[in-house]
Amino acid sequence: MLHLPTLTTARLQLRPFVLADAAQIHALASDYEIARFTSNIPHPYEEGMAERWIALHAHQFYTNQHVTLAIIAQASGNLVGTISLSTHRTNKRAELGYWVGVPYWGNGYCTEAVCAVIRYGFDVLDLHKIVARHFVSNPASGRVMQKAGMQHEAILREEVLKNGVYHDMAVYGVINPAH
Ligand SMILES: CC(C)(COP(=O)(O)OP(=O)(O)OC[C@H]1O[C@@H](n2cnc3c(N)ncnc32)[C@H](O)[C@@H]1OP(=O)(O)O)[C@@H](O)C(=O)NCCC(=O)NCCS
Repeated sequence: MLHLPTLTTARLQLRPFVLADAAQIHALASDYEIARFTSNIPHPYEEGMAERWIALHAHQFYTNQHVTLAIIAQASGNLVGTISLSTHRTNKRAELGYWVGVPYWGNGYCTEAVCAVIRYGFDVLDLHKIVARHFVSNPASGRVMQKAGMQHEAILREEVLKNGVYHDMAVYGVINPAH
């Protein structure tokens, strides 16, 4: 039986969340810059939300829905962000989601984490395709997808309603090269 994994990269450890991470999630996710370009992070990020979210992860993994991991900087032990795969098992496809806390932006951390999770999705979960989408107004996320070897597939016009505004979304994908 598979368990939530721990993945190690040159500078990061991607590991299951523990309740003790809640304070760091709260501190980082409370920044409006995180809510601004994510579909599912509210602002303000209320007390208790991080704990309730962490408590879902094991069940979501064992019911084949999501793999959600903390992104930890090995050097400091700090939680720098989060990354997830939401799986659609029938089509052997998953959608990536991620954020990195503002103090840690621009260090290549997100790209490093995305590359490791794509490898895990293909090699361990035997997925056929991994997709990701970003607000067109958030080119940094698109850059992460490009650097991780994903290909631009489409623009979905006015796909997401956020703060009263409809946003265009760009879709990227990568196919398992072993399939
Ligand atoms: C998008 C995000 C995850 C990037 O994290 P990160 O660890 O800084 O990413 P990386 O350092 O691996 O790569 C960022 C790239 O975007 C580039 N970038 C940053 N701002 C940019 C901008 N305004 N326009 C174009 N590229 C930009 C960086 O230069 C870098 O590319 P480079 O290595 O070619 O120079 C982070 O900014 C974030 O969490 N934002 C808020 C939440 C979010 O957008 N989540 C993703 C939802 S799809």
